[in-house]
Amino acid sequence: MNRWLYDRAASDYEKKWASAAYDNAAIHGEVQAFASASLAGSKTHRVLDLGCGTGRGVRLLADELPSDTEFLGVDFSAGMLQRFSEWRALQDKELQNRITLLQQDIRTYAADPGADAFGLVLLLEVGEFLPGFSTAMQNVATRIAPAGGLIMTRPAGAWPLFFPSRKQSRSGLVSLLANLGFESPRFLPWRPRYELVFAVKRSGPN
Ligand SMILES: C[S@@+](CC[C@H](N)C(=O)[O-])C[C@H]1O[C@@H](n2cnc3c(N)ncnc32)[C@H](O)[C@@H]1O
Repeated sequence: MNRWLYDRAASDYEKKWASAAYDNAAIHGEVQAFASASLAGSKTHRVLDLGCGTGRGVRLLADELPSDTEFLGVDFSAGMLQRFSEWRALQDKELQNRITLLQQDIRTYAADPGADAFGLVLLLEVGEFLPGFSTAMQNVATRIAPAGGLIMTRPAGAWPLFFPSRKQSRSGLVSLLANLGFESPRFLPWRPRYELVFAVKRSGPN
């Protein structure tokens, strides 16, 4: 159902980016600074964008990260990936070659024991849609290199009421992430429906 909806919404999806909440230099700066620090800390110049949609996360970071950074976007919606692919085709060849798109369920990709580890993983506006959120997060954590970073959104305001079995309270996320080997996350209020969560994976044993 979710995939069906996103396939149909893909052509208009980016319209919301014109709003003040999305077109926000301070928020962009926070995301870009954390992403740079994550790649520097982990020394792994690879970024995984889970539920990448039409590529907002990669678009935000492509010019800010080291020029050898490779990006992998995973999404199960062909329509959203098509839009992302159209944007990619407009970039210079060098950047095009550094962006790979994969149509797959996030949970399947994250659970693949052969999948790579990344210096930064993005999980933006998608966690609440994932059945088995805690298990998915366990697998997502294994995709992050030691000292690498996670940027995710936490549903806020009235939005969690639509996902009663997948609530992500601040305290719940703090304890889930601690159990998965992350340092204390930082929460940054963003827009009424979400706040941003920044977490660093510990470099030593959990
Ligand atoms: C609200 S959009 C967010 C897109 C992008 N992260 C952004 O910030 O603009 C949610 C995206 O997650 C994708 N998605 C939802 N559940 C998924 C799943 N189980 N596996 C893969 N993609 C999923 C949808 O297709 C959609 O592109």
